[in-house]
Formats: sequence, C-alpha cells, structure tokens
Amino acid sequence: MKKFKIAVFVSGNGSNLQALIDVSKNLDCPYEIELVFSNNPNVYALKRASQNNIPTLTLDHKNFKNRQEFDLSLSNNLKKIDFDLIVLAGFMRILGREFIKTYENKIINLHPSLLPKYPGLNTHEKVLENKDKFHGATVHLVDEGLDTGKIIGFSKFKVEDNDNYDSLLAKTHEIEHKLLPQICSLIASKKIVLHKENILINGKSDQKSKEIIF
Ligand code: GAR
Repeated sequence: MKKFKIAVFVSGNGSNLQALIDVSKNLDCPYEIELVFSNNPNVYALKRASQNNIPTLTLDHKNFKNRQEFDLSLSNNLKKIDFDLIVLAGFMRILGREFIKTYENKIINLHPSLLPKYPGLNTHEKVLENKDKFHGATVHLVDEGLDTGKIIGFSKFKVEDNDNYDSLLAKTHEIEHKLLPQICSLIASKKIVLHKENILINGKSDQKSKEIIF
C-alpha cells in the first residue's frame, strides 16, 4: 500500500527531523519522508537527510529578492514532488499567504511553547521570566498568522525551581521528539484529520484537551 508521504522543512540542527526519520524506520510506521527542504544550504539537518538517503531540496533565501520570489520558486519545485503533508520542524522562515493558501490544511508546525502562550521566538526565556509552572511544545496547523493556526496536539512538563535555559531547551526537545512523530503518525493513519476550522480527532471535533501524554 502507498505510504503517506511527508515533506519536512528545516533550518537548523534537525534533531526533530532525526526523530521523524528514526520512527519512519519502524515497519508499522504509517508515514515516509519524501523530501527534506531547507532555506539554508549549510545546516546539519541536510546531512541527516543525506545520511538516510532522503532526497533534499535547498533554496537559499538570501538568493531571492523577496519572500514572494522565494515562495514561488519553492512552490514550483514542490509541484514536481508527490507528498501529502508539509511538516515544519525547526523551519525558521515565515511562509507567505499565497504559499499557505496553495497548501491549505497541509502544513503543520512544531512550536516550542504551550500555544497560544509565546508565539514567535525566545519561548524558553519567556517561561523563565514569567515563572511559569508548565512548559511544553505544540503542533499546530499553519495559517497566515504567526503560530496562530488551530492546535492539533501538545505535550507539557512541569518547570522545576532549578530549571534554566539549557534544561528547558533539553526538556522541550525531549518531548518534541516524541510529539512530532506521534502527530505525523496519527495524521498519516487518518486518526487526525486536518480542517482549517476543525481538527477531527478519532472522528470527533469537540476534544476538550489535545494533550498527548507519553
Ligand atoms: C525546535 O525546538 C522547534 O520547536 C523550534 O526549533 C527547534 C528546532 O530544533 N521551532 C521554532 O522555534 C519555530 N518557530 P531542531 O532543528 O533540533 O529540530
């Protein structure tokens, strides 16, 4: 049977890409990684893809006049590739409205906070500044706003008195590495269905909590 194909977008180290790759090696994994795309040719995530024989695409955003030209070139390249879902896993470029419209309900993003708290950057710093009791990671549908799309699922952990930036970063990564492959698997096996206004989980839209507990 044809597997559900994902395109993973990355801009950095790619530890979340690695988690997706590791899970995809399980025989019963319902997704496969069709492509890894990066806007930066020098990132370690691209090496992880090559080491695992996953095709890569790189478009250095610095070579484009503006966001529209970058997005257009990306769309044109993606037309040649067969995939079902785009997964932003540490992708640090904002995608334009046209691109998002083209792939409506087909782009998900991993974000290192308990959204709607702390969209944007420096989420661990904000958790420390505000002395939050909990921190975590969220996977959401991408819309035109900054980390504003419908929440698909999240995982959280308790912030301890002795936590600092490094420990929060490490704890967030630890849960992200389970959360993202889990959500991709649920989408691939149609246990989660993505609609702009409505995320269906096991056929229901009125889930009180989208917390995923490991
Ligand atoms: C992850 O923590 C992810 O949540 C974050 O970037 C990191 C990438 O790590 N994404 C964002 O901040 C998106 N706004 P990785 O390259 O090791 O997977």
